[in-house]
Amino acid sequence: MNLNEEFEFNGFPKVRLRRLRRTPAIRDLLQETRLSVRDLVSPVFVQEGIDEPKEIEMMPGIFRIPLVNLVKNIQELYDLGVKTFLIFGIPKSKNDRATSAYRNDGIVQKSVNTLKKNFGEKIVTVTDVCLCQYTSHGHCAIIKNNVANNDESLKVLERIATSHAEAGTDFVAPSAMMDGQVKNIRKALDNSNFNNVGIIGYSAKLSSNLYTPFRDASHSTPEFGDRKSYQMPFHNTNEALHEIMLDIKEGSDIIMIKPALPYLDLIYKTRQTTLLPVCAYSVSGEYSIVKAGAQEGWINEDEVVMEFTTCIKRAGADIIITYHTKKIAEILNSC
Ligand code: PBG
Ligand code: ZN
Repeated sequence: MNLNEEFEFNGFPKVRLRRLRRTPAIRDLLQETRLSVRDLVSPVFVQEGIDEPKEIEMMPGIFRIPLVNLVKNIQELYDLGVKTFLIFGIPKSKNDRATSAYRNDGIVQKSVNTLKKNFGEKIVTVTDVCLCQYTSHGHCAIIKNNVANNDESLKVLERIATSHAEAGTDFVAPSAMMDGQVKNIRKALDNSNFNNVGIIGYSAKLSSNLYTPFRDASHSTPEFGDRKSYQMPFHNTNEALHEIMLDIKEGSDIIMIKPALPYLDLIYKTRQTTLLPVCAYSVSGEYSIVKAGAQEGWINEDEVVMEFTTCIKRAGADIIITYHTKKIAEILNSC
């Protein structure tokens, strides 16, 4: 058969994909990826020692809030259909051993307590388990002789995760990128009878330049050096897949890739290589870039947010952590 006959009729195209794009209703019928509020996780910053919400300068529309505002804040999102929250604490006191990270009356522990008292099983809480907001030097690890000490840090991460479990969290999300963190935390949780508490491993956390607004917001900029000896080089695919494979073996229940938008290839590959749920974290810099562009009037914020987030889902993310959650929920609820 003449190849052209397959595609042509009297010299014109026979297969016409535009037939499937003709009307909004046809396009809606055939839309392959649909974003839902249920896919989304909203980060929450709770800060000790402030009386009122403080807008984060580099992240317009996102606030650090005092504990007294937490329930009201979460209720607002819950009413829009958002049910999962990633909690970050900003403590009053820091030291080189990050002790304020695992106190029973620490800011994250109190936040989880309050949320579980008010919402119970209606919401899902995820707590970020790291040292950087709690160390005086701002690193995600215990520092010895100017070097991040992996195994000393593991002990602290275990204590933090266990204290979050005691407060009642559903999931802990270790984000320090210390080797063995998932394994050790799983063991610590099981030893304290918290085998129901799940782990979302920040498996492939790339050493990204898109974390600046978050570090400013959560007062966790390292005082010296950088995080390159523990966060992964963004150039490497095999290493990312290796990290992911290890986290699966160590007992992670959900795999996280972070950031999201420049790393769609990693999200896709992860989706192809594991049966576990895949979570993508669209980070602070991704948010700020969109906000800045929109403020200049250079892009349409709503359209760009929906496009970016849909594409993250299309690449294979089952769950998406995004600072745009409220806006997306409002858009989805209005159509
Ligand atoms: C550190 C941590 C980071 C983020 C969350 N926890 C990155 C970092 O400071 O290196 C970034 C989140 C964001 O940018 O939205 N444990
Ligand atoms: Zn950290």
